[in-house]
Amino acid sequence: MVNPLQDKRILLGVTGSIAAYKAADLASKLTQFGAQVDVILTQAATQFVSPLTFQSVTGRRAYTDADLWGNEGHVQHINLARNAQLMTIAPVTANTLARLAHGMADNLLTVAALAIHCPLILAPAMDGGMYSHPATQANVETLQARGAIVVGPAAGHLASGLAGVGRMVEPVELLGHIRWALAQGGRLQGRKIIVTAGGTQEPIDPVRMITNRSSGKQGYALAQAALDLGAEVILISAPTALTTPVGARCVDVQTAEEMLQAVLAALPQADALVMAAAVADFRPVQAAIHKIKKENGAPEILLESTPDILRAVAQAKAEHGWPRVSVGFAAESQDLIENAAAKLKNKKLDLIVANDISASDAGFGADANRVVLLYPDGRADALPLMSKDQVAEIVMQRVVELLEANQSTR
Ligand code: C5P
Repeated sequence: MVNPLQDKRILLGVTGSIAAYKAADLASKLTQFGAQVDVILTQAATQFVSPLTFQSVTGRRAYTDADLWGNEGHVQHINLARNAQLMTIAPVTANTLARLAHGMADNLLTVAALAIHCPLILAPAMDGGMYSHPATQANVETLQARGAIVVGPAAGHLASGLAGVGRMVEPVELLGHIRWALAQGGRLQGRKIIVTAGGTQEPIDPVRMITNRSSGKQGYALAQAALDLGAEVILISAPTALTTPVGARCVDVQTAEEMLQAVLAALPQADALVMAAAVADFRPVQAAIHKIKKENGAPEILLESTPDILRAVAQAKAEHGWPRVSVGFAAESQDLIENAAAKLKNKKLDLIVANDISASDAGFGADANRVVLLYPDGRADALPLMSKDQVAEIVMQRVVELLEANQSTR
């Protein structure tokens, strides 16, 4: 299991902003991902949301300033801070930002923040004018210069009734940043991994196109799995309805040709390329400039083959040595293993992930996949039906093994 949140000790500070209610959702999400979440509320935060709310979602005690002078005396904050593998303050008000920037330690939260030895992620929430105030901006800069990661604030509706930049980012986005920070130092640290995802779109005219049923879910899951192992990830994506995982650099493309160019541009020094995209095999020779009118009768559309990206990559690999590892996908509706094995050989891959798209419970659009992993030496590893996230984890583990084997033979 590579989930970087599993069993991690996270210290969640909550300050007195209306966005404090979002912190309860964040605490819940972190707990569901397996983290042990200790919450510290400032006095003002307890006006918005109760410690009991956090205790209920984390199953652990939530702390307030009463604990600063409690039975355990002054060691409480030191223990909380020392044990933390990551601290996040969400929401963090202008007031707490100012205290942190100046090293003040006048409540349990700011005392703990001074005692941590772990990454600090701050999610500001305040009125737009307060955030843009030079004092707040200077404090944010000071904290960033000291290594704090500041996420947001986002633009939108503010509690004051005004619109502006000051909203705390949504918990799911913050979760992505926490996940990314905790993944640093993983087995793919320092490795550059390119993942392609989604189905390319080949225009017929300004409104019509040739595309396929790929949702992009498997490719995005692979990008997340690589990030979870600490990799630098370039996600080259055809249009999808999915959100780029935090930490990935996303390159948006539409056509097979654009995907080819984006892959070639990303390729230098790449450790691995995982081609999960469903690249169109054919495209109209020429896209019409104007919408084709039906009044003129059904058109004949002449097609040509698109470039085979993996073949171009095999050439680059022969010339330059990168990517060190290339992984392809084979979506087949018949003769799965024979067809996939032929692709593995023709495209000079180190691994091919074959899936039978005729199954109704897996593959295109579904959240699950049933795949067979094929290697050049003839090894075949048939995996049971599992989520695309799990498939992604296993494929990335294999990429790690292939890279490590490649390292030792060089
Ligand atoms: O030969 P086929 O297109 O079925 O092979 C599928 C694999 O090749 C996938 O990994 C896909 O991303 C990749 N591919 C490619 N260039 C194409 C078509 C597919 O690299 N034009």
